Amino acid sequence: MRKIKVLVIFGTRPEAVKMAPIIKSLKNDEEYFDTKICVTAQHREMLDQVLRIFEIKPDYDLNIFKSGQTLTEITCRALMGLEGVIEDFKPDIVLVQGDTSTVFSGALAAFYHQVKIGHVEAGLRSGNMYSPYPEEANRKLTGIITDFHFAPTETSKENLLNEGYDEEKLYVTGNTSIDALKWVIDKDYKFEDEILNNIDFENKKVILLTAHRRENIGEPMENIFSALRDVLQKNPDAEVIYPMHLNPKVREIAREVFKDTKGVYLIEPLDYLPFTNLMSKCYMVVTDSGGVQEEAPSLGKPVLVVRRETERPEGVEAGTARLVGTERDVIFDEADKLLNDDTEYKKMANAVNPYGDGSAAEHIVKAIKEAFSSCF
Ligand code: UD1
Ligand code: UDP
Repeated sequence: MRKIKVLVIFGTRPEAVKMAPIIKSLKNDEEYFDTKICVTAQHREMLDQVLRIFEIKPDYDLNIFKSGQTLTEITCRALMGLEGVIEDFKPDIVLVQGDTSTVFSGALAAFYHQVKIGHVEAGLRSGNMYSPYPEEANRKLTGIITDFHFAPTETSKENLLNEGYDEEKLYVTGNTSIDALKWVIDKDYKFEDEILNNIDFENKKVILLTAHRRENIGEPMENIFSALRDVLQKNPDAEVIYPMHLNPKVREIAREVFKDTKGVYLIEPLDYLPFTNLMSKCYMVVTDSGGVQEEAPSLGKPVLVVRRETERPEGVEAGTARLVGTERDVIFDEADKLLNDDTEYKKMANAVNPYGDGSAAEHIVKAIKEAFSSCF
């Protein structure tokens, strides 16, 4: 029997985090799999941070990143680069994860070469093509050409069934973000960064903030930051830590709104280890991130999701996350309530984990093995 040739394609920070457990499982099974890793490097620094932590060495690095890149540029540059990689390695299956432009390009490149596609984190839907933008479209476009849909939850499987996908191609696996999180949380974790080490997590209510979504850039993001600035002014026992996304448009808004605000730390993006351990020590999370919405519930941290829609309703249904939109007054009221109403806080601060038991990667690798075992 020959080995199954798997090409794992990813390009951004969250894809790298969520692919890491799958890469580990595939590499542990060398008897069955010949695994190669291709990064488009849609992100550069933020991707490299994750590659370093998980000691992932790409076999192919397309290095497509350009500051200020447009969606068209990312898609075209990735697609062109991937063509050569697929022709060189001739994989039996390509794996892509999530909903970025790299995911859509990776799936399309595989489809053009009639290579099978496995879509990890399939079936998430917000129901609005422009929010998140362009991610909702990327997921749907990828789904149409996918052979193996690895849905993280029953809800995401249900979304795919409702769109008419064949049940035989659907696998409910859990989300690999939980697999990754299990490796890294350490209650005795010490930060290397002095700012973080000096934060008084016992006596301060630390709000961990992340924000980067394209559709939030502009007024919605100004609203999110202004609401938190007002929250800090009213609550001197609260602090905000914001590891800023490297997008200059995002950083400009943050610096402008928070200038001269006491109690806010605008810092560089953190490595995954300090970031997740910071999340496990903080009081609450305010975010528009997809991955952070999945991680916070399993750490028992209330999350205010600063978006109009979410494709991750599971955290909201479990009670740990609240979808609060991007209106300044609503965000202020919700954050202020969590800081001052102990009953409300305790209602949300339950460690629940609707995203799987940390064995998603194993399920995915097993499904691939079984599907190909009859072919070779
Ligand atoms: C991308 C994904 C989004 C995902 C996010 C994770 C698309 C269309 N969007 O959005 O789904 O949630 O990644 O963070 O695929 N930058 C750097 N260095 C980096 C990374 C980004 O300087 O390592 C800056 C650049 O100025 C770049 C900008 O951030 O132009 C935006 O990066 P881009 O990959 O285009 O989109 P994201 O907003 O990061
Ligand atoms: N993350 C990180 N450092 C940070 C902020 C986030 O390592 O400073 C991790 C986080 O734990 C999660 C992932 O990055 O695993 C989420 O990435 P992001 O919010 O950029 O993208 P999204 O999930 O919204 O696509």
